[in-house]
Amino acid sequence: MTRAEAPCPGVCSSCGRWSALLLPGFQQAFSLVLLLLLPPPPPPPLPPRRRRRLLCGIMVCFRFSPVPGSGLVLLCLVLGAVSSYALELNLTDSGKATCLYAKWQMNFTIRYETTSKSYKTVTVSDLSTATYNGSACGEDQNGPKIAVQFGSGFSWVVNFTKEGSTYSIDGISFSYNISDNTTFPDAKDKGILTVYDPVRFRIPLNNIFRCNSLSTLEKDDVVQYYWDVHVQAFVQNGTVSTKEFLCEKDRTSTTVAPITPTTTPAPTTTPIPKEKPEVGSYSVNNSNGTCLLATMGLQLNITHEKVASIININPNTTDFTGNCHPQSALLRLNSSNIKFLDFVFAVKNENRFYLKEVNISMYLVNGSVFSIANNNLSYWDAPLGSSYMCNKEQTVSVSGAFQINTFDLRVQPFNVMEGKYSTAQECSLDDDTILIPIIVGAGLSGLIIVIVIAYLIGRRKSYAGYQTL
Ligand SMILES: *[C@@H]1O[C@H](CO)[C@@H](O)[C@H](O)[C@H]1NC(C)=O
Ligand SMILES: *[C@@H]1O[C@H](CO)[C@@H](O)[C@H](O)[C@H]1NC(C)=O
Ligand SMILES: *[C@@H]1O[C@H](CO)[C@@H](O)[C@H](O)[C@H]1NC(C)=O
Ligand SMILES: *[C@@H]1O[C@H](CO)[C@@H](O)[C@H](O)[C@H]1NC(C)=O
Ligand SMILES: *[C@@H]1O[C@H](CO)[C@@H](O)[C@H](O)[C@H]1NC(C)=O
Ligand SMILES: *[C@@H]1O[C@H](CO)[C@@H](O)[C@H](O)[C@H]1NC(C)=O
Ligand SMILES: *[C@@H]1O[C@H](CO)[C@@H](O)[C@H](O)[C@H]1NC(C)=O
Ligand SMILES: *[C@@H]1O[C@H](CO)[C@@H](O)[C@H](O)[C@H]1NC(C)=O
Ligand SMILES: *[C@@H]1O[C@H](CO)[C@@H](O)[C@H](O)[C@H]1NC(C)=O
Ligand SMILES: *[C@@H]1O[C@H](CO)[C@@H](O)[C@H](O)[C@H]1NC(C)=O
Ligand SMILES: *[C@@H]1O[C@H](CO)[C@@H](O)[C@H](O)[C@H]1NC(C)=O
Ligand SMILES: *[C@@H]1O[C@H](CO)[C@@H](O)[C@H](O)[C@H]1NC(C)=O
Repeated sequence: MTRAEAPCPGVCSSCGRWSALLLPGFQQAFSLVLLLLLPPPPPPPLPPRRRRRLLCGIMVCFRFSPVPGSGLVLLCLVLGAVSSYALELNLTDSGKATCLYAKWQMNFTIRYETTSKSYKTVTVSDLSTATYNGSACGEDQNGPKIAVQFGSGFSWVVNFTKEGSTYSIDGISFSYNISDNTTFPDAKDKGILTVYDPVRFRIPLNNIFRCNSLSTLEKDDVVQYYWDVHVQAFVQNGTVSTKEFLCEKDRTSTTVAPITPTTTPAPTTTPIPKEKPEVGSYSVNNSNGTCLLATMGLQLNITHEKVASIININPNTTDFTGNCHPQSALLRLNSSNIKFLDFVFAVKNENRFYLKEVNISMYLVNGSVFSIANNNLSYWDAPLGSSYMCNKEQTVSVSGAFQINTFDLRVQPFNVMEGKYSTAQECSLDDDTILIPIIVGAGLSGLIIVIVIAYLIGRRKSYAGYQTL
C-alpha cells in the first residue's frame, strides 16, 4: 500500500505556482463539489514516485481551494484527485431499516521514534481500502459503533451512547501497526499502538450531526483530522433526520461570517449586530379548540462564562406544545438545540393575567446544557378577556445570565374565543403611537387658536383704522 509522505520535495515547489492563480476559497464547498462530482474511483496503479506527485497536486487543490469552477475540478480530475475518500456507512437493522448513518472524511498524521532516536512523521490519508467490519447498530448491552479498517493494519472505532433525549459520540479509538516497516520504516517500537480520545459530544436525538469544518483531535503521537462529517446514531423509524445539529465552527461560519474573500480577518471582539428574529405564531389547543395564542419574534440572550450569545428563534424549525388550565397556561417551545423554553402564565386578582414563569434548558455550542428557571416574574400584564400586545422590542429578564428580547409580541393565554385574539392592551412602549396624534392634534388646535386671535386683532385694528378716517 502506498501512502502519502508528508513533504513532497521538489514537486510542491512547482505546485506552489498554481496558488497564485487560485483565489483563497472555501475548502468545504470545494471538496463537497469534488465529492459530488467524483464518486471515489479506484486508485490508479501507479509507481510510488508518480503517486506522490499526484497527492501533492491534491494537497494544493485543497489548500488553495478555489471558487468552485468546473475547470479547476477538471484540473484536479486530470491530476488524479482520488486520495480524498469520503467514507460512507449506512447500517441497517434486521428489519432493513437504517439505524446508523455516517459520511465523513478523515486523515491522520503519526509521529514515531526511530531506531536512531530521531522522530519521523507519516500521514495516512488513503482510505480507499476501507472496510466496516464490526460496525453495529447496537443492542441492549453494546451501543452503536462504527469500525473502519484500512491500509496495513489501521483500525478506527467510534462508539455512541444514548442518554435521555440526546446521544453522544462517546469516544474515538485509533490503532496502528507500528511493526509494519513499509509504513513506519526504522520504527523503534513494535506491535499495535492505540490512542483513545474520549469525545463525549452530545447531540439531540433524531438530529444528524454535521461538521463541514475541519476538526482536529490530538492525542499522544497521533493527530486526527476530520471534515465533511455527517453522522446520526439511533436513527428513528429508519429515516435519517433532516434536522442538522451543527458543530460550533459550522455555526459561526454560516451564521456569523458572511463569506467575504478579504484577507483581513473580521475583528472578533466587536459584537455582531444580530438581525431581528422572525415572528412565529404559536397556539395551544384543548378539547374546546384553541385556548392560547401567541405571536412573537424571540431572541435569546445568554451570558455564559462572561460571553453573551444572541440566539434568534427560527419559528420554521421550532415545535410548540402546551396546556391550558383555569388559573394557569403553558406554552412550551422546543427545537434541535432547545430542550424546552416554557412560558407559564397565571391569573391574578381574578381579573388579570401575566407572564409568571420562564424555564429554559438548552444545549450550548460546546455541548453543555444551560438551564434557568424563574417563577417570580411579572411581565405582559393585561385584563382577562383581552390580549397583550407590544410591537416594540421588549426584554423579559429571567436572570442575570438570561434575557429574552421580544419583537411584535401579542399573547392571549386565557379566554380565547373562536381561535382569535380579543382586543389588545398595548404596552406602554407602544403608547407613543397614540401620543403622536395627540401631539399633532394639540399642535393643530394651538394653530387654530393663534389664527383666531390674529383674526380678532386684525379686525380690531381695521375697525380702529376705519374710525380714524
Ligand atoms: C440507507 O439504506 C437504506 C436501505 O438500503 C435506504 O433505504 C436509505 O435510503 C439509505 N440511506 C442513505 C442516506 O443512503
Ligand atoms: C489531511 O487533511 C487535512 C485537512 O483537510 C489537509 O490539510 C491535509 O492536506 C490532508 N493530508 C493529506 C496527506 O491528504
Ligand atoms: C471483513 O469482512 C469480510 C467479509 O465479511 C472479510 O472478507 C474481511 O476479511 C473482513 N476484514 C477484516 C479486516 O476483518
Ligand atoms: C467506547 O470505546 C471505549 C474504548 O474502546 C470504551 O472504553 C468505552 O467503554 C466504550 N463506550 C461504550 C459506551 O461502549
Ligand atoms: C503488524 O505488522 C507486522 C509486519 O507487517 C505483521 O507481521 C503483523 O502480523 C501485523 N500485526 C497485526 C496484528 O496485523
Ligand atoms: C521489514 O522487516 C522485515 C522483517 O520483519 C525485513 O525482512 C525487511 O528487510 C524490513 N524492511 C525494511 C525496509 O526495513
Ligand atoms: C416514528 O414512528 C412513530 C409511530 O409510527 C411516531 O409516533 C414517531 O413520531 C416517529 N418518529 C419520528 C422521529 O419520525
Ligand atoms: C369547554 O367549554 C365548556 C363550555 O364553555 C366548559 O364548560 C368546559 O370547561 C370547557 N372545557 C375545557 C377543557 O376548557
Ligand atoms: C387547534 O385547533 C384548530 C381548530 O380549532 C386547528 O385549526 C389547529 O390546527 C389546531 N392546532 C393544533 C396545534 O393542533
Ligand atoms: C445581552 O445581555 C447582556 C448582559 O445582560 C447585555 O449587556 C447585552 O446588552 C444584551 N444584548 C442584547 C442584544 O440584548
Ligand atoms: C421560514 O419559512 C418561510 C417560508 O417557508 C421562509 O420565507 C423563511 O425565509 C423561513 N425562515 C427562516 C429563518 O428559515
Ligand atoms: C420537540 O420535542 C418533541 C418531543 O420531545 C420531539 O418529538 C420533537 O422532535 C422536538 N422538536 C424539535 C424541532 O426538535
